Amino acid sequence: MNAILVGLQWGDEGKGKVIDFLCRDKDVIVRFQGGNNAGHTVVIDGKKFIFHLIPSGILRKDKICVIGNGVVVDPKVLIEEIEVLKKSGIKVSPENLKISLFAHVIMPYHRIMDTLREKNRSQKIGTTMRGIGPCYVDKAARCGIRMADLVDIDSFSRRLKDNLEEKNLILEKAYQAQVFSFDAILKEYQVFAKMLTPYVCDITDLLYPKKNKSFLFEGAQGTFLDVDFGTYPFVTSSATVSSNALLGSGLSFIKINEILGVAKAYTTRVGEGPFPTELTDDMGGYFQKKGKEFGATTGRPRRCGWLDLVILRRARILNNVNKIILTKLDILDDLKEIKVCTAYKQNGKLLKNFPLDLSAVTPVYETLKGWRRKTEDIRSYSGLPAEAKKYIAKIEKFLDCKVSYVSVGEMREAIIKK
Ligand code: IMP
Repeated sequence: MNAILVGLQWGDEGKGKVIDFLCRDKDVIVRFQGGNNAGHTVVIDGKKFIFHLIPSGILRKDKICVIGNGVVVDPKVLIEEIEVLKKSGIKVSPENLKISLFAHVIMPYHRIMDTLREKNRSQKIGTTMRGIGPCYVDKAARCGIRMADLVDIDSFSRRLKDNLEEKNLILEKAYQAQVFSFDAILKEYQVFAKMLTPYVCDITDLLYPKKNKSFLFEGAQGTFLDVDFGTYPFVTSSATVSSNALLGSGLSFIKINEILGVAKAYTTRVGEGPFPTELTDDMGGYFQKKGKEFGATTGRPRRCGWLDLVILRRARILNNVNKIILTKLDILDDLKEIKVCTAYKQNGKLLKNFPLDLSAVTPVYETLKGWRRKTEDIRSYSGLPAEAKKYIAKIEKFLDCKVSYVSVGEMREAIIKK
């Protein structure tokens, strides 16, 4: 059974925990896009693991975790992540972690360019400043440095030299910023190369579908951060939708049995950009506090709002999702009433189609009754309060898609099969 898992909102839907759970019966877990702008959190026996690049499947024995060609890798962050996991007693070796030769490398000038571009934009994006955008720009401009170059000193030196000639000129002339030294970067990246070489390989054969080998493709960020289908230009620089899973890992049209969409029981967004159901009052503060809505990567507070069924329906279609996993239902436990957005209005008129510009719409809400009961310790669907089941049924009906699992807490085991 091969599955693709993607976020249906603006990221931070709780994918890390779900991946950790779902990969129990998978052999290979592949990350196919994004970089260390992502932060996937998994809590096991009270211990928190935060993943930026390595699939959270690494926590389980006998799984092969792959960083695909569609990912942009900051080698320093990856090495730190490997070290932290090893210190916690988790096995990370070339046997269970493979990095595609074709994945692009984030360089120091990418991080600086990210910061400088953001500073100079009249309309800020609120990027994570991790160099993600500039690295993808270089990939498309065909001057990027790939993992294959990182592990080959001649190729790396040649490409670094070419890049610095251009980047230093831009930094100096356009931004009056400090330039980079070839020797310093070469020295730093040779250390990274030495440490990462054993993990770098051609993953094509490994991924070629064989009988009895099942894959889980792990998406990062969320549908509305997709560079094409998201709230452009307030998006990330990669394709976050399910159709990129194969391209970002080098597989052709293998049979995908399940496309799983992860949706949080309310909505959050980090960074700038339109967010129709955003709450700037105490209710937003409630979600932020109770849901611990602070970025796992940057620590930035997340903007919070009611569940937006209009974007979810769009995301379900864009990703061809056939199962929904609803997370953080427990955060709604204390509420007397819960609102869900079921339509948008623009200039006083109900919209029939999905709008091009989400900043121009106002949400239309339906109000549902809350359940005002703790759900964190419930482990069976039948044990959930009737109102919680009605909330789930509303989502299923609106999206015309089944909710398969409901997560009711941070802990690994706080998940209910429906
Ligand atoms: P970038 O990916 O760092 O270029 O940031 C572009 C936009 O995507 C910003 O609004 C970020 O806050 C957002 N973003 C990037 N990665 C994530 C994520 O993993 N979760 C939530 N938002 C993200």
